[in-house]
Amino acid sequence: MLLNTVATIALLTQGTHANAVLRFGCSQITVERLDPLVNPSVNPSPHVHQVVGGNAFNAFIPETDVSQIANCTTCSFSEDLSNYWTANMYFKARNGTFKRVPQIPNRGLTGETGGMTVYYTSAYDNSKVTAFKPGFRMLAGDASQRANGGVTKWNAICFRCYSAKNFGGDNGAPCSDKTVDTVDLPKKACAGGIRTTIRFPTCWDGKNLDSPDHTSHVSYPATGTFENSGACPTTHPVKLPQLMFEVIWDTTTFNDKSLWPADGSQPFVFSQGDNTGYGQHGDYVFGWKGDALQKAMDGSCFGATCKTLKSQAFTDANKCAVTSSVNEPVDGWLTSIPGQMSPLGRM
Ligand SMILES: *[C@@H]1O[C@H](CO)[C@@H](O)[C@H](O)[C@H]1NC(C)=O
Ligand SMILES: *[C@@H]1O[C@H](CO)[C@@H](O)[C@H](O)[C@H]1NC(C)=O
Repeated sequence: MLLNTVATIALLTQGTHANAVLRFGCSQITVERLDPLVNPSVNPSPHVHQVVGGNAFNAFIPETDVSQIANCTTCSFSEDLSNYWTANMYFKARNGTFKRVPQIPNRGLTGETGGMTVYYTSAYDNSKVTAFKPGFRMLAGDASQRANGGVTKWNAICFRCYSAKNFGGDNGAPCSDKTVDTVDLPKKACAGGIRTTIRFPTCWDGKNLDSPDHTSHVSYPATGTFENSGACPTTHPVKLPQLMFEVIWDTTTFNDKSLWPADGSQPFVFSQGDNTGYGQHGDYVFGWKGDALQKAMDGSCFGATCKTLKSQAFTDANKCAVTSSVNEPVDGWLTSIPGQMSPLGRM
């Protein structure tokens, strides 16, 4: 299992690993209509999210040191009280009803329930990266996007269609293999499920912890990509660790074509009413304790263990919980996706 994990990471990062690569699982802490970044204090927020990380998650999270508010996390690194979230994937059956697609652990990881895999990668050229500051938050992607463009030019956001169980076709860095990676939702049934990859901006203006659109205080590289050590723009000169999410959607129980739309089009839809997939997005509220993340990035930690970081077993991580504050079903067969017009007016 360890070899498999190491092989996977080497594959995913495509290089020698003198730089630091944290890759770890985080279980679900909640699935509900809250979005403390884009819609603070709004309950319910416009669409459903799947959330992992610390138990400070709420409709409102103050722009302060989150590691002082939370006291447990669903992530295996126990000093990481951050929150990470994405939209949810739903299956729309031919009869017009919806069911939430479950998430499963990523290759080489076990023990988490639902949730996702989080990566932090330091610079490939071994130049200094500056860890996020308390109160920092940001967004990647655009929930309202429905066509190609935007972040897709940095290979930032994509899907991988697994051809078989156990991550069939998982070769090559994410978003780089055009035979299995797409920026819109795969059009065919994926026998091994669908992986979402979301890479966040890696350059910071050095001043603002947030911005009104939650993206303009950060930037993707001015030229090239983080992976090929592209330079940061002068407006955003501070190089950050690269934050990346992977979500493994277990679509395999929904591959019966007789339940797909009669015209054969793909049946999956994101919780913001997006059946294109171009509106895939991720949200981040930093919450590591002290300088734990900076230390890990300055070393050469690799994978889900790191000698400068404290870890916990998923039997403990999975006990961390928040009380859901939105009173509506998000599971089972639903006549509409929570918060979306029925039957999916925006599709
Ligand atoms: C942890 O946080 C929860 C929720 O904020 C609170 O109810 C609980 O008392 C805290 N536990 C400890 C040990 O501080
Ligand atoms: C709709 O289709 C699903 C999948 O076959 C089925 O489980 C569900 O009971 C159906 N619901 C209705 C209202 O027909």
